Amino acid sequence: MWRYNQVLPINNMDEIVSLGEGLTPLIESKNVASLLDQGRVWIKDESSNPTGSFKARGLSLAVTMAKLLGAKKLAIPSAGNAGGALAAYAARAGLEAHIFLPRDVPPANRIECEKLGAKVTLIDGLINDCGRMVGENAKKEQWFDLSTLKEPYRIEGKKTLGFELAEQLGWRLPDVIIYPTGGGTGLIGMWKAFLEMQNLGWIGPKLPRMVSVQAEGCSPIVDAFKRNLSQSLIWEQASTCAAGLRVPQAIGDFIMLKILKDSNGTAIGVSDDEMMRDAQIIMELEGLFVCPEGGATLTAFKKLVDSKFIKPEDEVVLFNTGSGLKYLHLFNNKGEFS
Ligand SMILES: Cc1ncc(COP(=O)(O)O)c(C=O)c1O
Repeated sequence: MWRYNQVLPINNMDEIVSLGEGLTPLIESKNVASLLDQGRVWIKDESSNPTGSFKARGLSLAVTMAKLLGAKKLAIPSAGNAGGALAAYAARAGLEAHIFLPRDVPPANRIECEKLGAKVTLIDGLINDCGRMVGENAKKEQWFDLSTLKEPYRIEGKKTLGFELAEQLGWRLPDVIIYPTGGGTGLIGMWKAFLEMQNLGWIGPKLPRMVSVQAEGCSPIVDAFKRNLSQSLIWEQASTCAAGLRVPQAIGDFIMLKILKDSNGTAIGVSDDEMMRDAQIIMELEGLFVCPEGGATLTAFKKLVDSKFIKPEDEVVLFNTGSGLKYLHLFNNKGEFS
C-alpha cells in the first residue's frame, strides 16, 4: 500500500512499519455474476493482508506514525482483527501493545494477539466496553489510544483500499460497493480516497453508491439510515457470529450515514444464517475462503438485486474483509455452521 506514499502522511519511507500490506487482488467473479444474472462483479479480497484482514492497512500506518511521534505503549479496543494487526505491527516496531477484546472474541484472534507478544485483556462486554477501558486507563498507563477515529492515521491507511480499487479498475470506480460495516473505517477511508482522487484529477466525477451491510443482530447503521437519523442509537444485546460487525455504536456513525446518503447508497441487514450460507457459495463458486463478513456482502447483493436497487448492468464490488481461517470455531466436526 506504500506505493501511494505521496498521498499518505509520511515523508521518509525508511521509517515505515510494514509487513507487506495492501495491493490485494481484485478478483472478477464471473460465477457470482452469472448466479445473479449480473454483468460485472468483483471481490476485493483482503484476506491476503498480513494477519489476514484489511485491518493491516490502518494499523501499519497508525503504528508507523505512533512510533515516529514518540509513542511507546499502544492500546486498542478490538472486535478481533484490529487487535491481531496491532499486535503484529507493534511487535515489528518494538512497541508495547495493550489489547482489549470481548471475552467471546474468536479464539484465533486472541491467540494471535498473545503469540505476537501483546498484553491481552478480556472484557465481559463488547468493543465499546473495551473502548471505555482503554479510555479510562490511557492517561494513567501512558498508553496511546489507537481506537477507531480517535487518532487520524488508521483512516489514512484505509484510504489505500480506494486508491487500489480505482487503479485496478483502470482509474475508474464501480457503480456499487458493498461493504461489511462495524466501526466504519473502511467505508470512511475509501470515501476520503475517492474525493481526494477527484481533486487530484485521477478519476472522473462518477462515484459509487456505497452500501453498508450489517448483521441483523447488530445493525445500528441500518436502523439509523432507515429512520433518516444523522447519528445511530446504541444497539442493545448485540449478537452475531461475524465478530467484526459486533459494534453496537460506532464513533464515526454520523460520517458513515452522511456517506451513505451523499452517495445515494443504502444500508442493509442480513442474518447470520444468510451470511454463512452465502460465504459457502463464494467459497464454492470462486475458491475464496471468505469470512462471514465477506459472505454478508453476497446476501446484501442478492437482496439489492431483488429490490432493483442494483440493475443488471451495474458494476459491483464486494469486499471480503478477512480470512475465513479466523472463524473455524463456527464450524462443527462435520464442517457445518453451528
Ligand atoms: C473481517 C471484518 N470485516 C469487517 C469489519 C468492520 O470493519 P469497519 O470497522 O471498517 O467497519 C471488521 C472489523 O473488525 C472485521 O474484522
